[in-house]
Amino acid sequence: MVSKAGLREHMRQRLRSQEPEERRKRSLLIEERFLQMDAYRKARLVLYYVSMPQEVDTFRLMESALAQGKRVAVPACDTAGTDLGVYELSSLGQLRPGTLGILEPEVSTCEAVVLAEIDLVVVPGLAYDLRKNRLGRGKGYYDRFLSRLPESVPKVALAFDFQIVDEVPVEDHDVPLDVVLTDRRKIR
Ligand SMILES: Nc1ncnc2c1ncn2[C@@H]1O[C@H](COP(=O)(O)OP(=O)(O)OP(=O)(O)O)[C@@H](O)[C@H]1O
Ligand SMILES: [Mg+2]
Repeated sequence: MVSKAGLREHMRQRLRSQEPEERRKRSLLIEERFLQMDAYRKARLVLYYVSMPQEVDTFRLMESALAQGKRVAVPACDTAGTDLGVYELSSLGQLRPGTLGILEPEVSTCEAVVLAEIDLVVVPGLAYDLRKNRLGRGKGYYDRFLSRLPESVPKVALAFDFQIVDEVPVEDHDVPLDVVLTDRRKIR
């Protein structure tokens, strides 16, 4: 069994070496699949991750949701750097570079979101397996956050198909997903 650290390093490298054009094409396929999901169509408030340059793109998805009159929320690391706060965006212009080099909501101009109002969570990650286990970047932010959410809220991961591995190492605190969407399949 590979270690979490080993798998993270391998996937970081694999993600960095993906051509921008491939990333763009694959992201579009994943976006189409996401937009067709029942859970998305029904959702009024969706929590997205704000994608980094190597990840499945979420910017167009956030734009579509806003254009469809859905509410869009994104996470921000709290000042202690241990937990995620959730803030609502009325426009993507409210995003600013945050602590981890990821764009974050400008907290002073955004409303905090009541967790009970979240209908769907789009979760980031480095690797997944067919049991819908997730390997994140290793800080435990999403695991801690997901464990505070009502269990009934669907958790969807967006991934390039090469991010699906035979087995992701899991520990007790790791929260599994409900669906993993890739450019080639829907795992549920
Ligand atoms: N619910 C939790 N309560 C307390 N500590 C936690 C919890 N979830 C994760 N952690 C801690 O966070 C650290 C990293 O966890 P893990 O290796 O699963 O990160 P990850 O899932 O890759 O990262 P992320 O969730 O940020 O994407 C671990 O040391 C773990 O003890
Ligand atoms: Mg984890």
